[in-house]
Parts: sequence; C-alpha cells; structure tokens
Amino acid sequence: MQHLILQLSYLIGSITFIMGLKMLSHPDTARKGNMVAAVGMGLSIFTTIFLYRYHENGQMHNLHNLVWIFIALAIGTVVGTMAAKKVQMTAMPEMVSLFNGMGGACAMLISMIEYHHMSLEMVANSSYHPGTGIMLVIVLGMMIGTVSFAGSIIAWGKLNGRIKDRTIPGGQALNFLMFGGIIILAIMVVGGFGDAASQGYLFYGIAGIAALYGILFVMPIGGADMPVVISLLNSFTGCAAAFGGFLYGNPVMLTGGILVGSAGTILTILMCTAMNRSLKNVLIGSFGGAKAGPAGEAKAAGNYKEISLSDSAVIMAYAQKVMIIPGYGLAVAQAQHICHELEKVLEEKGVAVSYGIHPVAGRMPGHMNVLLAEADVPYEKLLEMEDANDQMSTTNVVLILGANDVVNPAAKDDPASPIYGMPILEVEKAEHVIVNKRSMKPGYAGIENDLFYKPKTSMLFGDAKKVLQDLVSELKNV
Ligand code: TAP
Repeated sequence: MQHLILQLSYLIGSITFIMGLKMLSHPDTARKGNMVAAVGMGLSIFTTIFLYRYHENGQMHNLHNLVWIFIALAIGTVVGTMAAKKVQMTAMPEMVSLFNGMGGACAMLISMIEYHHMSLEMVANSSYHPGTGIMLVIVLGMMIGTVSFAGSIIAWGKLNGRIKDRTIPGGQALNFLMFGGIIILAIMVVGGFGDAASQGYLFYGIAGIAALYGILFVMPIGGADMPVVISLLNSFTGCAAAFGGFLYGNPVMLTGGILVGSAGTILTILMCTAMNRSLKNVLIGSFGGAKAGPAGEAKAAGNYKEISLSDSAVIMAYAQKVMIIPGYGLAVAQAQHICHELEKVLEEKGVAVSYGIHPVAGRMPGHMNVLLAEADVPYEKLLEMEDANDQMSTTNVVLILGANDVVNPAAKDDPASPIYGMPILEVEKAEHVIVNKRSMKPGYAGIENDLFYKPKTSMLFGDAKKVLQDLVSELKNV
C-alpha cells in the first residue's frame, strides 16, 4: 500500500511538471504553472521522506536522519524564498545560474555518495561489482553534475562582475585534453580497471578534472553569450538529475531531469537561432567576449542630433502608429509602469501603440515580456521581432527605451562587427526614430551603434523613468 501511494505521488508529480511547463509558455498562466509544478514537487518530496523504503542487510527500512533532512529543507526554503523575493529583475540570470549550480552539485554529490557506498561493498567483498550499467550512470551523473556546478558558479561570478572574462592561452587545447582525459578515466572506472583503491583515485580524479573543465570552459565566454551558456549548463544539470533518478529508480526525478534537460537544450538552440549563430561559434567565438565585452569602450562615429521633450511629444501625438522598443535600460530605470502610462495617453489621442520585442533584449530570455507584464501591458501589444519588422515601414515613430545592441544596424551591414549576423529590430525602416538613453555609451556588447548618427534618428537623453514621466506630462498638454 505504502509503495502504491508513493508511486501514485510520483505519477502526480510527473504530470504536474509537464502541466506546469506547458503553462509556463504563456504569461497569463505562467505564475499558476510554477505553483502547479511546485505543489507536485512538494508532494513527491514529502511522500519520499515518509513512504520510501530501502533494502539493507536483508530488511526493509524507512528513511532515517529525518531531523537532518528537515533542518536542510528549512534552511533551503528560507534561503531560497528570501533570495527570490529580494532579487532584482536585472539580477535574475545570476540567481538562475547559482540555483542551477546547486542542482549540479546535488547530482554530483548523489553520485559520489552512491559510489562511496559501492566502494565500501567492493572493499568488503572483492568479488562484488555493482554492474557496468549502474557504474556508467554514477560516473555520468558525477561528471556532468560537476561540470555544471563549476561552470554555473563561474557564470554567476561573471554575471555579477566578481569574475572577469579571461582567455587562457592554449585554453581550447587544454579543454580538449581534459575532455579526452575525463573520457579515458571514465572508461577505466566503468570497466572496473584495477582494485577498489585505484578505482577510487580514478573516480575522484574525474571529479577534479571535470571541475577544472567546467571553470575553464565558461571562463573565456563573453558576457553577451552568457544566457546561452547558462541555458546549456541548465540542460547539463537536468541530464545529471535524470541519471540520479535512474540510479534510485525514482520516476519523478527522472521525469524532472529529462524535462529540464530537454527544455534547456531547446532554449539553447532557440537563443542561438535568435542570434543567428551556431552553438560551436558561441562556445569558441568572440562575440561579446574579450574582444568586445561589456564595459568595452566605443569610439565616436560622427554627429548626432538631440530632440526636446516637447518636440518628441508633438511627433508622437500626431502619429498614427508608434512602436516602443524596450531594452535593458528600461528595466534598469524600472520605468515599465510609466511606459504603460505613456501608451495609454497616446491611445487616448488615437495613436496605435505596439511594442517590438527582441528575443535577447535585456539580460534574460523573456526579460521584456516579464517586465511589461509587471506593468499590465496587454500581451497582444507585444510583437515578436519578425512581426515588428514587418510593421516597421508603416510605423511613424519608433521610441527606443534603453535598448542598444538589439537595434544596432552593424549586425546587418558590417561583416567585421562582432555582432554581424544577429537578427535585429530594423527600426530604420520607420519614419522617425527617437532613442532614449543617458549618454552615447555602448550597450552590453561594448560596440558603437551607427543608428544614433543616422539622419532619421534623434537622441532624447536622460534616465528612462524621468524622461517618460516628463513625456507623459508634455503629451497631456498637446
Ligand atoms: P544593451 O545593448 O545592453 O543597451 C542598454 C542601453 O540602456 C545602454 O546602452 C544604456 O545606455 C541604456 N541605459 C542603461 N540604463 C538606463 C536608464 N536608466 N535609462 C535609460 N537608458 C539606460 O541592451 P539591449 O539592447 O536590451 O540588448 C541586450 C544585450 O544584452 C545584447 O547584447 C544581448 O545579447 C545581451 N544579453 C542578453 C541576455 C538575454 S537572454 N536577454 C542576457 C545577457 C546578455 P546609457 O548608459 O547611455 O544610458
């Protein structure tokens, strides 16, 4: 009976994960989807704690060490809740990266603990071998979990600025050598080479090299490519967790791992497609990297013209179609609410307003969608990049709010540019382009933007929130 209830809870857990993931694909249902999956996860955790039974010394046992388990659960819940409540939207990728690293560390530790149990058996009984299949699952879970853990911690440090981009001379060859070394050692462990003691050295040797590999593999990757790397590491953690589920014969862990692994892989591919680059190019290329990283300096490219608040208000008030292009700066200024206000004021004047959303605007996938949803901007007003570009030539005014790289024409016109090939919002096709930012400084990729110097473009300098507040007041007087 206990076993039946446990299996039923795993089935419910697996179904809620799938439902939750499906609901996460639309902003209206995303919050509920998260809750549904969390309830399924909670149910599976508690039924495992109280109902899971394991076989030892010819007898079945319930889990013990319950006090330790609940202390760990309480600490994890308090820390996780506080971190999630406190985190700024712009720091979300860092948190995702850190949490992902914790997942990788769990998968690594699970494999290590299970390996330890088995090596004790092997020492006690020299003819004992757990079987090639189990050994393969343990070694793969440990290898992938360790790479994901080490890589995610480096990614976290790079995103919050504690770790700088660093290209190690001969780094690629070294990574290649380490990767080969890991594979050879893994074959030796899985194949049962040597006695129990030498097997132990080999196993922990793999862990050491995998950790170094994770660090060196992420270290040189440029800031603008970090979302792709985080998504890739996320899929690694999912795979490592799935190996843990396989090891324990736990279907909910297996399903959860497979879902995370496949969702991470799909997201990685989608982001590469959005930037028009291959994964190989992201991993060994230089876009946003040491050559053109964040905080890189750009040189002046000519004269730009400024526009006043009152002129901007007049142009927009008499337009038929205005498209707002939000970017990272809008999130920094926390100007989403006043942006929605501007949209309403314009619509009251009979202007049709839409938003052009670039898939990598901001600092995380879906950043602009989440930001605008926070301000209750109707989802139908958000146009994906292709649709926005289709409407550009019939748009009278494009208002760019704190976006830079995602509207940089160098991606189309300059084969020497590090962002060449990345699809962009083709704002130049509109009649007027008004750009709001605080200065002429470059965006994340650290490169000059010729758009600002084009005849159609006018700069409206200032913090996005302040500028939008003033613009709304001006518009009310037009
Ligand atoms: P960016 O190219 O980073 O440009 C943002 C601009 O906002 C800056 O040029 C900055 O100029 C301006 N800004 C900053 N604070 C502002 C404020 N308070 N008020 C007004 N303007 C402000 O942003 P983007 O166009 O959204 O492009 C995103 C970039 O980040 C891409 O390179 C992308 O690859 C990368 N990236 C994306 C992600 C994902 S998945 N979305 C994750 C990590 C990195 P001033 O300093 O002159 O104001």
